[in-house]
Amino acid sequence: MTRARQLLAQAARVVVFTGAGVSAESGMPTFRGAGGLWKSFRAEDLATPGAFARDPRLVWEWYGWRRGIVASCRPNLAHVALGRWMLRREGVTLVTQNVDDLHERGADEAALGLAREAAAARVAPIRLHGSICHTRCARCAVRAPLAGPVDATSLATLPHCACGGLLRPDVVWFGESLPEGALQAAFAAAAAAEVCLVVGTTGAVYPAAAVVHETRGAGGKVIVVDPGETAYDDVADVRLWGAAGEVVPALVAEG
Ligand code: OAD
Repeated sequence: MTRARQLLAQAARVVVFTGAGVSAESGMPTFRGAGGLWKSFRAEDLATPGAFARDPRLVWEWYGWRRGIVASCRPNLAHVALGRWMLRREGVTLVTQNVDDLHERGADEAALGLAREAAAARVAPIRLHGSICHTRCARCAVRAPLAGPVDATSLATLPHCACGGLLRPDVVWFGESLPEGALQAAFAAAAAAEVCLVVGTTGAVYPAAAVVHETRGAGGKVIVVDPGETAYDDVADVRLWGAAGEVVPALVAEG
């Protein structure tokens, strides 16, 4: 812990790279491991362009269920501590694989006297896998926040774009490319960072997982916070075994 705190304090530029584990203590299921979403659901049926083409109603139903979980969850101590830390210091870029909005809401809670929108904007993560709270038109690709619940009882009740196209969740599905701008921004920030702080990801899904190797490849240090094994365990300069909500607040606490 002492070494990790030193590395973070000395670094002018830090990338924080988060995965499902950072939201686990909020009640969000992770993807792999016990209770993980991919243990109970088949990604091929729910999270691919083919699945949406076959049965958009089913896909919307599943994402509606997941949005309900997000809405019922509160940011945990890790989200709030990261938000407070990022509001307090310069040079931190947050890159997340998560599609929830808990980082922004954690910054809201930490707001430090800033307007809530300003706080959320300051920590706004680079989203490599999109956002469950936004839609994208399957025809014209326009993006918009998703207002209210989706009625998935029939094709006709699903949300449609002004252009007439069917709206889809604005998330990256298996077989799809990551948003190019987000990926480039994440890699650039990671390559420029002296430290990459990795929280709650197995590091199994590429190209997102390569963010960590960008920092390493450029000579930076890697700190990994996770209670379970990850693909980064052999390359981490500091490995902190534990839950994000316990370890992260201690890691970024003032003083
Ligand atoms: P995973 O489910 O693969 O990994 C979750 C990680 O969180 C594991 O390493 C757990 O040990 C760790 N973990 C569990 N509880 C934790 C806690 N309280 N604190 C800290 N860590 C904890 O999730 P990701 O690595 O995020 O992609 O998955 C990457 C991508 O795979 C997701 O973004 C998603 C999925 O398919 C898409 O949807 C495109």
